Amino acid sequence: MTMHYGGDYNPEQWPEAVWYDDVRLMREAGVTMVSLGIFAWSRIQPAEGVFDWEWLDTVIDLLHEGGIAVDLATATASPPPWATTAYPQMLPQDENGATYWPGSRQQFAPSSPEYRRLAAELVTALAERYAKHPAVVMWHVNNEYGCHLNYDYSDNAAVAFRAWLAAKYETIDALNDAWGTDFWSQRYTSFEQIVPPRKAPYSRNPAGELDFKRFTSDTLLELFLMEKRIIRAAGATQPVTTNFMGAFPPADYWRWAREMDVITDDNYPDPNDPESFRASAFARDLMRSLKPETPWILMEQATNALNWRPTNAPKAPGQMAALSMQAIARGADGIMFFQWRQSRAGSEKFHSAMLPQAGTRTRTWREVVDFGAELAALPELPVGARDAHVAIVLDWQNWWALENPDHPAVLDYLALVQRWYAAIHRQHVQVDIVQPTSDLTGYGVVIAPQLYLLTSDAAANLIAFAESGGHLLVTAFSDIVDENDAFRDGGYLTQLGRTLGIWLEDFGALVVPGGDGPGQSAAPFDLVGTTVTGTLLAEEIHLDGAAALGRFVGGRLDGRPAFTVNPVGAGRAYYLATIPDDEGCAAVAAAIFAAADIHPVAFGLPDTVEAIRRGDAVTLINHGTHTVTLPDGATLEPFGYVMLRDGE
Ligand code: GLA
Repeated sequence: MTMHYGGDYNPEQWPEAVWYDDVRLMREAGVTMVSLGIFAWSRIQPAEGVFDWEWLDTVIDLLHEGGIAVDLATATASPPPWATTAYPQMLPQDENGATYWPGSRQQFAPSSPEYRRLAAELVTALAERYAKHPAVVMWHVNNEYGCHLNYDYSDNAAVAFRAWLAAKYETIDALNDAWGTDFWSQRYTSFEQIVPPRKAPYSRNPAGELDFKRFTSDTLLELFLMEKRIIRAAGATQPVTTNFMGAFPPADYWRWAREMDVITDDNYPDPNDPESFRASAFARDLMRSLKPETPWILMEQATNALNWRPTNAPKAPGQMAALSMQAIARGADGIMFFQWRQSRAGSEKFHSAMLPQAGTRTRTWREVVDFGAELAALPELPVGARDAHVAIVLDWQNWWALENPDHPAVLDYLALVQRWYAAIHRQHVQVDIVQPTSDLTGYGVVIAPQLYLLTSDAAANLIAFAESGGHLLVTAFSDIVDENDAFRDGGYLTQLGRTLGIWLEDFGALVVPGGDGPGQSAAPFDLVGTTVTGTLLAEEIHLDGAAALGRFVGGRLDGRPAFTVNPVGAGRAYYLATIPDDEGCAAVAAAIFAAADIHPVAFGLPDTVEAIRRGDAVTLINHGTHTVTLPDGATLEPFGYVMLRDGE
């Protein structure tokens, strides 16, 4: 196993003399691999049909001589000005039909035939030239698909969306049925009448919105697969990847993960936010979970400050290493940065890098060199596998459906999933992230927040989990619609109701906590001697076999069940008729963990310390700004960490 260390390398921004210095300093820093040429299209191909390989040959050979491997980019994320000038129809458009013009990056409509042809020509030439180069150990396709420009509404998108819909539904009547187009006179008589969800007078068809999001994720993935096929056709055998962005809404990474040889991910938590390490931990757990048993790579992070937030705080001394260990502890076999050498010009010149503009006298450089040496000395680690006994469900289809407007309350799916995650993370209990149809064997507890859109396969899987002895927690606003965002016959909870032993009458929206409007904003309920605060929804449910573990206290549902349990088969199915706040999630999770015999990775740790197991390696990391004392009397300084092996 190689623990990769390095960053994006953009030598085209520098004269040749600097490249020699780069390789020398990379060696000093312990760099093993660089992601080369991610935005170098205009330098590789100065005109259509014309390629300039000389500089790239030189750089790759130099790196190779220096013992530095190359993650070779396909450079398709920023088409050059000659391309967009010759083929302006490749430019994307927003929902108002306004064009995204060149001058930045990612100025391409994913469905554009011209973009696809030009990208294919570039990748073919690159792959044929470097497929067998001994320096190339990985292929980096495009960059952060969907970033900046989440959705394209251009005519190219319209044509492709229609074809996607025709392939899915075959007949326009099937689409009319699925979309419920008899509402508001939306019935189509031909696929040609369908446009992407552009600006409309009022709320658009929710099933159409949902399909457009599915189409967008599929279309971006199609681009990745096009490039991957070209790379393989050229005889390249190295792993092919593209860098993910944590839980990124426009791309269903469950679907994408199947096509990745290795998962790679980018991470930019805000150093100003003392809690940002928890969301970062969540994303890293997601990356491990996307492809269990396969090491993944942290492809990008900053060594220090960013450039793109309103204020860009520096990372504290040691924080870069602590956040890197957070990834390694969760199965990463590589720590990479954006970027190797800080740019001297352009939009990102204030973005930190491994080699700062202020040079090698800096703390950043010292930390980069020190951490490189530390990684090189790290013992062999087991592949991140199934070390968690608790799983949290994250489902993109449901996310997209929940994003549609016109619901009883606005629910931020990711924030609510992360609320559960954070509550459990504070208890030092290890978590995998799963999709509702994942194999749930081996988990003791599965938490499924707000599974509004629930397919029959997913419902059957969750029910089977509980019946076979698992503890399943379903929370408010779940099992409401089918895959077309339409109600099923028979009310709500039509699939899970029997397992949960309840039925749902109404949603009972609450005023947003902290909002200034009148009305009930909190729905407290009692739970073994404590009071849990429910927010956003206080549903009116009826017991139909389940027992109430907690009942609402006060407010319009005073005395009605809020938290229920139903024994099913060898397991238990819990239902929460509201959405607890942070402390409430912690209390509910703790109660279920006690019943399911779930234990933390390590006992007695302070709140700011996280504990993660990777096979026989347990890593403790202090993300707080104070030195903490561990139960064995050892101390961890701010951003200090320790990796212990079982039996040590
Ligand atoms: C993203 C991109 C990089 C760079 C960094 C800056 O992750 O992939 O090219 O722009 O952001 O933080």
